[in-house]
Amino acid sequence: MRKKIVAGNWKMNTSPQEGLALAKAVEAKASHGLPQGVELVVAPPFTHLSAVAAVLSKVGLSAQNCATHDSGAYTGEVSASMLKQAGAGYVIIGHSERRSYYGETDQSLSLKMAQLLKNGLTPIFCCGEVLDERESGKHFEVVEAQVANVLFQLSEEDFRKVVIAYEPVWAIGTGRTASPEQAQEMHAAIRGWLRGHFGDSAAADCAILYGGSCKASNAQELFANPDVDGGLIGGASLNADEFWAIANSF
Ligand code: PGA
Repeated sequence: MRKKIVAGNWKMNTSPQEGLALAKAVEAKASHGLPQGVELVVAPPFTHLSAVAAVLSKVGLSAQNCATHDSGAYTGEVSASMLKQAGAGYVIIGHSERRSYYGETDQSLSLKMAQLLKNGLTPIFCCGEVLDERESGKHFEVVEAQVANVLFQLSEEDFRKVVIAYEPVWAIGTGRTASPEQAQEMHAAIRGWLRGHFGDSAAADCAILYGGSCKASNAQELFANPDVDGGLIGGASLNADEFWAIANSF
């Protein structure tokens, strides 16, 4: 059976002290017993990773981005191997904010993907359409291209290490969530493309998370769908009680 994952994307929020307190609060809840079969992950800013890693044991740690290269003259970048050494097990790549504000492309994501796999990190690969694309009926085409352009160059063995997050851009931070039907429809489509390329078993084993204004009040109806395997949670992950409630929504 595939994993269920609830991952908190803190984005550029929390001071180091606040982040540490939040991580401790999430870990304290998880130490009383994680919901059956659910993996909980937090993704703080780079500066918090080492300190947060030191207080987590039940909860996984993710970074929010990584460099396209191993090392060298890339001012401001952080490599996959540095993230691994800082204690991360996961790295989010291809988030829509990085695609739209920082020019991340299928090409740069392919390089990042290779770095993560090479360093034994689990990629959380984000995809999703913008509002215009949905309104003009192009959402399936857009998401299929994002998935195919980066994931279809992987071997089945490498693909099996990847977690996917479908995040319709119009739902991120807007309070406007995809309906459970819209989420299920896209997740099923993604799994279908994966099945066509990697076969039944690899597609069936891939965790596909939903992201975009997911919170305690709507997580249950989203997670009840057969192809929704958890969530990538932004705003609602900044509160330990709310995040914990989402983790308990399966
Ligand atoms: P949101 O963000 O939950 O605040 O909408 C989700 C994300 O961007 O990962």
